[in-house]
Amino acid sequence: MSDTRPIGVFDSGLGGLTVVHELREALPNERLIYLGDTLRCPYGGRSIDAIRTFSREITTFLMKQNVKMIVVACNTVSAVALQDVIEVAGNIPVLGVVGPGCRAALHTSVDKRIGVIGTKATVRAGAYGNGIRALDERVTVYEKACPLLVPLVEEGFAENKVTELMLEEYLDELVDFGVDTLVLGCTHYPLLSKQIHRVLGGRIEVIDSAWWTAREAKQILGDRGELAVEREGNDRFYATDMTEEFTRLASIFLRGQMDSVVEIDLHNELTEIQ
Ligand code: DGL
Repeated sequence: MSDTRPIGVFDSGLGGLTVVHELREALPNERLIYLGDTLRCPYGGRSIDAIRTFSREITTFLMKQNVKMIVVACNTVSAVALQDVIEVAGNIPVLGVVGPGCRAALHTSVDKRIGVIGTKATVRAGAYGNGIRALDERVTVYEKACPLLVPLVEEGFAENKVTELMLEEYLDELVDFGVDTLVLGCTHYPLLSKQIHRVLGGRIEVIDSAWWTAREAKQILGDRGELAVEREGNDRFYATDMTEEFTRLASIFLRGQMDSVVEIDLHNELTEIQ
């Protein structure tokens, strides 16, 4: 039987479209409903309470769309508020990007020395370190906040010399620490993958959580007998604010064209739900 209910995906903004890109590759028959909270983005420097409140609101909205699963594309939300999403989602599965990233890193690292880069909130929560050590306590994890990388990517500076210098500044410490695996713990970093490989000089394995998340999502739906056998309808994109930059940024993250986007006022939507 084909389960044609959509998969709900959300992020603090547009970076989560890197996860949509991977989901589309791994699950071409699935219809996706994406919400980017562009009005309140970035979440990376915000308080835990704020991130938890936003995550609960967005999950309530997605549940109203009759989704069969929620993929939390945002590392910051996955690190800080996954439990809130699980609570609001009730009995549908919830998959954040942190878990798949942890499992992939552990599987890949030979020396059991793993580096993780992410936003300040992700690193402060220690979610990757805790997640990896819960799987194997012998692993040493070095987590590093890289707050300047998000704005550099959003300004279209991925290929710029300035970004390469920033990466050297951030990553040198991890290299000195002797990590053999580096987790890209932020939606934006897969877009810097080439530059990161260059700075690391090919000595370190790089884990893109988005790619692994898409594979785990497929596994979960398969195990539950909830895969769509054929696609019914187009993906739907919602944003809480449409800036002038929207189309340019969306196409960078999605690595393709976004069909159409609907701007929503989340508070109005939630009032209607109540
Ligand atoms: N989406 C966020 C993450 O993956 C990065 C942008 C933000 O700070 O909101 O952590």
